[in-house]
Amino acid sequence: MTFLGVDLGTSGVRLLLVDEDSQPIGAAERAYHAAHPHPGWSEQNPADWIAALEEAIAELRDNYPQFSALRGIGVAGHMHGATLLNDAGRPLRPCILWNDTRSHTEAARLDAKDQVRAISGNIVFPGFTAPKLEWVHEHEPEIYAKTAKVLLPAAYLNFYLTGDYVADMSDSAGTSWLDVGRRTWSDTLLDAGNMRRDQMPRLVEGTEEAGRLRPALLDAWGLTGPVSIAGGAGDNAAAACGIGAQDEGQGFVSLGTSGVLLASRAGYHPAPETALHTFCHTIPGRWYQMGVMLSATDSLNWLARITGQNPIELTTELGQNLQKPGSVRYLPYLSGERTPHNDAEIRGSFTGLSTETGRSDLTRAVLEGVAFGLRDSFEALVATNAKFDQLIAIGGGSASRYWIELIATILGVPLSLPISGEFGAALGAARLGMTAATGAAPDSIMTIPEVRETIEPDQALRQAFDDAYDKFRVSYPAIRSCQ
Ligand code: XUL
Repeated sequence: MTFLGVDLGTSGVRLLLVDEDSQPIGAAERAYHAAHPHPGWSEQNPADWIAALEEAIAELRDNYPQFSALRGIGVAGHMHGATLLNDAGRPLRPCILWNDTRSHTEAARLDAKDQVRAISGNIVFPGFTAPKLEWVHEHEPEIYAKTAKVLLPAAYLNFYLTGDYVADMSDSAGTSWLDVGRRTWSDTLLDAGNMRRDQMPRLVEGTEEAGRLRPALLDAWGLTGPVSIAGGAGDNAAAACGIGAQDEGQGFVSLGTSGVLLASRAGYHPAPETALHTFCHTIPGRWYQMGVMLSATDSLNWLARITGQNPIELTTELGQNLQKPGSVRYLPYLSGERTPHNDAEIRGSFTGLSTETGRSDLTRAVLEGVAFGLRDSFEALVATNAKFDQLIAIGGGSASRYWIELIATILGVPLSLPISGEFGAALGAARLGMTAATGAAPDSIMTIPEVRETIEPDQALRQAFDDAYDKFRVSYPAIRSCQ
């Protein structure tokens, strides 16, 4: 038997075929774009996801004979996107993505409504789904009137694969329509957002079977089946499955476009006042909490772009050894910030520049600014009694040892790097496909990867970074008042 993980990302789709031991057999990727028709807007055409998926499937099928033994598929998706379908299941407009901030006014209005934070367990962030529908209600009433279903990106792929409207709990927790503690749609939240229960997909746990691969796709992909489709997951919950973070004390730091500090939780401990996200995990009866910063590697990529270097060249210039905090300070708010500020309009800044400042000082400031942003999330998580016995570093930015040692030092927690290989959302999604198809206990499948290296905090620099963090913390209100 083989299993397929589909990671529907913001810049492309990644497919990973694994065997019964979660060992990779082969992978295929296809890229697509997001359109930004106005500042702060970010949209994608669902047809592009399907075309990319089909091309990547064809590549896997042609290259790996094991594809014919496929028995389970899991889909992980970028969260919060609103895919609006008419009563024939056709998209009515491009999907409005997680990093689209057009609905910040609607988000603030919803967030202020009675009970909304209490039931959803979260702030209604501008990136979440409910405010997007409020925006469509106001600005595109003819589309709003025709909206028969709203699906998150992963649920839209589930619909393509199974023909059924079905979504998992972990992704649905980011809509502001879900009662996250009870794991069910909330009529109070749906009313607050002017939505109806019949516009929502059926809910399943991420590890459960959502349906079977449609006969037309079985035929087209040359399979005999049956192929189970798992409930799936939002990308961060799937990444947690990929590194085996299901229990209290386990979590990860992800340095991707956005930066995430995630802690798995055995219970439900919402803390919306801290701008933490509290979402259902893929496993019944478990949740996770995370702080999300919007520009992590995005900050370094931006610096690389404007200095004409690539990010690896920039971090290599810093050398191997962690340096004490620099005198230039960078606030990593290029696209606004979620945790801890919930501020879609704040923008980034450099302070402390002098005639001596060179490119490497800016790089150091950017890496430190992102690490301090993660410390903000860490402080919020610790205040809810989250523990970090084990923290694994994942995402593109974790290739920089300097950055990982810096984050370990600023958080005061050792960070482990998995042996090179597949440990992201695609593997987590494949593991969900496996649990759905085999009925195996999730804990037996979602194991912890072998660790290549654990990077300890540099104790000699801890105090200096604590002092620098205190200065970083007070920079936000100061900069906010000038913008
Ligand atoms: C999480 C979030 C992002 C997206 C894109 O709340 O918005 O992590 O899922 O990856």
